[in-house]
Amino acid sequence: MILDIYLRWYELALRATNFEVYGSPRKDLFQNLILSGMGGSGIVCDMIYSVLYSSSEIPVTIVKDFQIPRWTSKNSLLCAISYSGNTLETLNTVSKALEVGAEVCIVTSGGKLLELARVRGLPHVVVDSGLIPRAAFPQLLIATLKLLSTYRINLCSDLKSLTNILRDVESVSKTSKELAEFLKNSLPVIISNTRFYPLAMRFKDEFNENSKMMAKVEVIPEWAHNDIVGWELPLGVVKSLVIWDDDLVIEFLIDYLRGRGVDLQVLKLLGDDLLSKMLYGSYIAGLTSVYLAELRGVRAEETKSIDMYKEFLKRRVNH
Ligand code: F6R
Repeated sequence: MILDIYLRWYELALRATNFEVYGSPRKDLFQNLILSGMGGSGIVCDMIYSVLYSSSEIPVTIVKDFQIPRWTSKNSLLCAISYSGNTLETLNTVSKALEVGAEVCIVTSGGKLLELARVRGLPHVVVDSGLIPRAAFPQLLIATLKLLSTYRINLCSDLKSLTNILRDVESVSKTSKELAEFLKNSLPVIISNTRFYPLAMRFKDEFNENSKMMAKVEVIPEWAHNDIVGWELPLGVVKSLVIWDDDLVIEFLIDYLRGRGVDLQVLKLLGDDLLSKMLYGSYIAGLTSVYLAELRGVRAEETKSIDMYKEFLKRRVNH
């Protein structure tokens, strides 16, 4: 059961802090960083991007597609993350990056990417197999942080301390059960500021995949330039989850939504920095989505439609 995996997040994260980085990373100073991955693996790219946004001296971009940017060159570093190692979009970005001589490094549990990493001697980290991609999140995140640090891209100086944010399962479960009660039978709209956008997306993705629910994400301050007008006549089914940050526009947002009679909850995150707050928030997102699945009588682990898409793609790409 997927719930059992979420309940073991602290242990899984702690294990990941000891994962080995295989291969020898090139010592060059790269001119840009490309993070490639889809779905539950790709969200790691978003979180890393958000942290690097205010600290990286080189441009960072995210690819969630088959194609890489035209400017990719031998001076680029492409970090590919795919739990299964068989996601076609991600595999394609890796082959294209190799074609132009970029440095490619990989985080995966197996599949074609692991094979490729071994055959070509690409720097890589192997996460535990037998999990479900979205539930392997703490391992994918920590493995990627480790891998990037070998290129002197440092996002976290103490990975073991980072995992501490996952220790108090009981309190995370309690918050998540209350949130699931609040959101059941609604169309959740998750709103955050730009730096927490990956976490808002993580909530949406978890509601989609585990709870089989539609959900919407809005980001401030952009929200205040278009979506805000839609809330003048909000749909009855909408409930809002606001991810709190010390931000003037969030204060405005909350007052505005309350003034429109919107049913909302504000989520305050534990953690000392952006990364630990997003990890903590992801834990709440995961457990809330599983409790929502229980309330809705659906199986959290099943994602039949994603399998259907992947089968379609495999058939069409191979012909
Ligand atoms: C399934 C899930 C999906 C996958 C996505 C990409 O749990 O979360 O979003 O993560 O289809 O597959 P991987 O992660 O294997 O590259």
